[in-house]
Amino acid sequence: MPLPKAELHLHIEGTLEPELAFALAARNGVTLPYADTEELRAAYRFGDLQSFLDLYYALMAVLRTPEDFTALADAYLERAAAQGVRHAEIFFDPQAHTARGVPFAAVIEGLGASLDRSEERYGISTRLIMCFLRDESAESALATLESARPYLDRITGVGLDSAEAGNPPAKFRAVYEEAARLGLRRVAHAGEEGPAAYVREALDVLGVERIDHGLRCMEDPELVARLVRERIPLTLCPLSNVRLRVVDTLADHPLPAMLDAGLMVTVNSDDPAYFGGYAGDNYDAVREALSLGPEQLRTLARQSFEASFLEDDEPRRARYLAEVEAYDFRV
Ligand code: ADE
Ligand code: ZN
Repeated sequence: MPLPKAELHLHIEGTLEPELAFALAARNGVTLPYADTEELRAAYRFGDLQSFLDLYYALMAVLRTPEDFTALADAYLERAAAQGVRHAEIFFDPQAHTARGVPFAAVIEGLGASLDRSEERYGISTRLIMCFLRDESAESALATLESARPYLDRITGVGLDSAEAGNPPAKFRAVYEEAARLGLRRVAHAGEEGPAAYVREALDVLGVERIDHGLRCMEDPELVARLVRERIPLTLCPLSNVRLRVVDTLADHPLPAMLDAGLMVTVNSDDPAYFGGYAGDNYDAVREALSLGPEQLRTLARQSFEASFLEDDEPRRARYLAEVEAYDFRV
């Protein structure tokens, strides 16, 4: 039995495996510029975040109907369950779909159909977090929040993703203020490729409660001290960091130093179809490459539930935490 864990940094579009991409392409009459799944997989060699994003957005062309989004989420939940994920807070990128003529309703209703059955089918509780693309305009983000209004009962929070460098958090001050007024939780990618200053800005200007990635906070000891003091969770994605060349190798990952510093770090998969592993694979990879012991792994799992947005369901959080404490690494 795998270690129970929450996944807090997962882009549902990043779970599109080549096999499903080709199946949906056939169903929707979309031609992909790759002969087969093998040729597509061979394209998964990235020099940086942008080179990944180019492929990530291009492949989304196969996602057109609500049923496509349902199939995507079902496939993720099944794999996540097999790797011990008990709770998933799932990002989606509405602008990447509405820009292609796919209605907001098709995306959210399709994902919702899967998430509504997730507990019963896969034993995974879920939340949805709507991300704004930071390389699009602030006005587009505000319009996206407007489109989400009829569905706010399905959306727990907002996030900020896509090309970080040159797109500072402050660009999205207004939409985060409005999201807060609507009672939405707030997170943002920061300190992945962008500087530590973006982590600070996401906290101070956007009022975020968690930082996605946040790796580069390690360049700023004062910021580290603040993140520890305020118990701000950082949702790390180790295999993603290697594939996008944020770190040279897994052995160079600052995760152990971050744990030692007392940071509230968690381990997540980001875009598992592209980066070589789901949540459990990320735990296994850091255990091996960084020689983490059982108690460090237990801390990571405990922190994943503590950092989750389960305030509306504390009994469930307590149950998950009890499962983590009772987990026996020897079996
Ligand atoms: N969108 C999907 N994955 C992302 C990542 N790792 N960073 C920024 N935007 C993303
Ligand atoms: Zn991400």
